[in-house]
Amino acid sequence: MRQTGKFIFAFGTLLFIALLAYTSACKREPVYIGYIDPNPIDTTGGPGDTTIITPPPPVTHPCDPDSVYFTQQILPILTSNCAMSGCHNAASHEEGVILDNYTNTRNTGKINLGSPSNSKLYRVLNQTNERMPPAPMAALPLDQRALILKWIQQGALNLTCDADCDTTNVTFTTSVMPIITLKCKGCHSGTNPSGNIALTNYTQVKATVTSGTLMGSILHQAGYVAMPQPIGSAQLPDCDISKLQIWIAAGAPNN
Ligand code: HEC
Repeated sequence: MRQTGKFIFAFGTLLFIALLAYTSACKREPVYIGYIDPNPIDTTGGPGDTTIITPPPPVTHPCDPDSVYFTQQILPILTSNCAMSGCHNAASHEEGVILDNYTNTRNTGKINLGSPSNSKLYRVLNQTNERMPPAPMAALPLDQRALILKWIQQGALNLTCDADCDTTNVTFTTSVMPIITLKCKGCHSGTNPSGNIALTNYTQVKATVTSGTLMGSILHQAGYVAMPQPIGSAQLPDCDISKLQIWIAAGAPNN
C-alpha cells in the first residue's frame, strides 16, 4: 500500500512538473502579431528574447492633424535629443536602447501599447531622478512629451505624411522656431549646448544668421559643420530650408 502511495505521489509530481514546463514553454512562444506586439522586450531569457519585430514600411498619407506621424514628428525629437553618440545611437546603445529609427525604437524603447504612459520611452521623460535626456541637456518641452505619449496611444505606428509646403506668411514664430525646436534645440539648449551655440530664442538664432553659420551648416556647405546632427543625418527637408531662406531673405525679422 505504502509503495503504491509513493508511486502515485511520484507520478503526480512528475505530471505536475511536465505540465508546468509545458505551460511556461507556451508563455515563451512569441506572441507577436507584426509590429503591434504590446510588449516587444522579452527579458525572460526564453527563446522570445531574440525575436526582432519586423515593422511594415511607412504608410504615407496626407497629413491629418489628429494623427501623429513618426517620420515628421517623433523621429526628429529622438534624433536631436536621444540618438547621439554616447547615448542612444546604434554604436553607443546605452542600456540596449537605440532610438535612431523606427525599427530600433520599437524594438528597444520598451513601448507598452497596453499601458502607454507606462512605456519606458515616455516615463523617463518625466522622472526627476534619472530624467532623460539627462542634464546638462534640457528636459523635453511638455508638448513634445505629450506628442510621444499620443503616438504610443495611437499604436506607435510608422506613419509618414505628405504635407503641402506652405511658404506663404513665413514668420520667425510660426515657421522658423518650430523647425529649430523640433530638430535642433535638443542639442542646442541646456547649460552646455553643442558647439557652445544655443538656439532657444530669436536673438540666439539671429546670431547664427548674421555669422552665416546657420545656412552654411544647414546647406552642408564647405567650411561648416553639417547640420542637423548626428553626423550622417540627412539635410533638412526642402520645405524647411525654403522657409528659412524666405525668412532670411526678408531680413530675418523677429515676427
Ligand atoms: C544631435 C545633436 C545636434 C543636433 C540635433 C543639431 N546640432 Fe548643431 N551642432 C552640434 C554639434 C556637436 C556642433 C559642434 C560641431 C563642431 O564644432 O564640430 C554643432 C554646431 C552647430 C553650428 C555651428 C556650425 C559651424 O560650422 O560652426 C550651427 C550653426 C548649428 N549647429 C546649427 C544647428 C541647427 C540649425 C540644427 C537643426 C537643424 C542643429 N544644429 C542640430 C550638434 C547638433
